[in-house]
Amino acid sequence: MSDRVRLTINDREVQAERGASLLETVRRMGIEIPTLCYNEELSSYGACRLCLVEIFRGDHSRLVVSCVHPVEEDLVVRTDTDRVMRTRRVVAELLLARSPNSEKIQQIAREMGVEEARFQQEDNDCILCGLCVRTCREVVGVEALGFSQRGSKREVTTPFNEPSQVCIACGACAYICPTGYIKLEDKDGVRKIWGKEFKLRKCQECGNHFAPEFQLKYIQEKWNIPRENLLLCPTCHG
Ligand code: SF4
Ligand code: FES
Repeated sequence: MSDRVRLTINDREVQAERGASLLETVRRMGIEIPTLCYNEELSSYGACRLCLVEIFRGDHSRLVVSCVHPVEEDLVVRTDTDRVMRTRRVVAELLLARSPNSEKIQQIAREMGVEEARFQQEDNDCILCGLCVRTCREVVGVEALGFSQRGSKREVTTPFNEPSQVCIACGACAYICPTGYIKLEDKDGVRKIWGKEFKLRKCQECGNHFAPEFQLKYIQEKWNIPRENLLLCPTCHG
């Protein structure tokens, strides 16, 4: 079996590596497609559904989530049908109804011509995109976060909603979160995140607090870096 597949996207014939996602392939062609829960450094999760495209087989067509749908031989794909555009706008409205105060969601909705949502507003800034959970697990290598509960009660939390035993306070989850739901505060040498306080290390040169002790200990052990190399902030380290 060849490791390449041939398919048609927006009337153009293309080849893609078997196993690639439709989203990657479409983007490689320079075609824009909105995404929210996708990040090329992370596994795909298919949560936000903004990246919908329409696929055709014979007389039938259906909408699929392009970030988790693989390319297939002879598949015909369109990224811009009325059905795609209409459904994406509804998805944007649903996101806006869930998180009406999120600037990122407002911007995405605006780009799709959605100014306000017809659905009941919820005011929940977590859109369950899972970027924080995947970043924590796949990039940082810690599993401090996860989803709990189901349906409308589903949320991102630390295990059992207790301060996490494994969180290193690196803040990667807060950084990647598109809505600002995750609160991180650095004050007086202490970082607060996920209901827990973490001591920050003071730079031996300039005296500024620069990173949580837990995170530095994690780096020291994981990459076998001597502690003496982690006593200065990045600026003084040069
Ligand atoms: S906390 Fe932020 S990054 Fe995590 S699932 Fe919710 S919106 Fe996504
Ligand atoms: S980017 Fe594909 S579902 Fe979110």
